[in-house]
Parts: sequence; structure tokens; C-alpha cells
Amino acid sequence: MRAAAIILAALLLTGCERAPEVTFADASITLPDDPLDLPDLPGRDAVIANCTACHSPSTMLQQPKIPRAKWESQVTKMIEIYKAPIDEAAIPQIVDYMVAVQAAQTETGPAQ
Ligand code: HEC
Repeated sequence: MRAAAIILAALLLTGCERAPEVTFADASITLPDDPLDLPDLPGRDAVIANCTACHSPSTMLQQPKIPRAKWESQVTKMIEIYKAPIDEAAIPQIVDYMVAVQAAQTETGPAQ
């Protein structure tokens, strides 16, 4: 009987040395609705495909107005500095879109 108790105690102690069990649970987050949507102008699909993985539409619509050449260098900066996987063939469409959006904002005022 005493031997059985010692064995049981030894088993329990051995059990304590095991690594603690860790369980992982799936988690999800709900992003807030973006109050702004990208206006329906030519090139919108290219911007959605290449920019909105990292930037919300609101971010894209609330940039200071910059000329076309600066938009070209912004897109290049996204690729070179931030390693954005942007389709180079889509760059002219993206630039056209951002210039057109900002021109329209000049007429109607900046996005709120
Ligand atoms: C891989 C992620 C990623 C993608 C895709 C991406 N960007 Fe960015 N962008 C960044 C980061 C990081 C910054 C710097 C931090 C910030 O301002 O959010 C930034 C900043 C900006 C800014 C703010 C000005 C600046 O120079 O910081 C503009 C404008 C911009 N991006 C435009 C674009 C456009 C247009 C596209 C699509 C062609 C694009 N981005 C795609 C990551 C990305």
C-alpha cells in the first residue's frame, strides 16, 4: 500500500514537469465601416486592387492635393519603400484616378 502511494506521488510529480498545455483560439476583429467610398471614376478598380489592402478609401480621399508627377512618385514610393505589391501596368490608371478625384474635390470641396 505504501509503495503504491509512493508510485502515485511520483507519477503526480512527473505530471507536474510536463510543459503547460497551451490552446489557441481563432480570433476575429470587425473593422469599423468606412464613411467614405471611392467615387466611380475611371481607374477605381485599379486603386481598389492595389491600394486599399493598406489604405482605407477615407485615407485615399483625404490627401493634400498634389500634381500628377507627385502621384507617380507616391506610387513608386509605395512599391520601393513600403514593398507594396502594386501591378506596374496599373500605375497610369491609379495616377489618373487620383488626379481626377482630386480635381473633382476641388469643384465640390474635400471629402468630409
Ligand atoms: C503594402 C501596404 C501599402 C500599399 C499596398 C499601399 N501603401 Fe500607401 N502607404 C503605406 C505606408 C506604410 C505608408 C506610410 C504610413 C501612412 O501614412 O499610412 C503609406 C502612405 C501613403 C500615402 C501618404 C503620404 C506618404 O507619403 O506617406 C499616400 C498618399 C499613399 N500611401 C498612397 C498609396 C497609393 C496611391 C497606393 C496604391 C497604388 C498605396 N498607397 C498602396 C503602405 C502601402
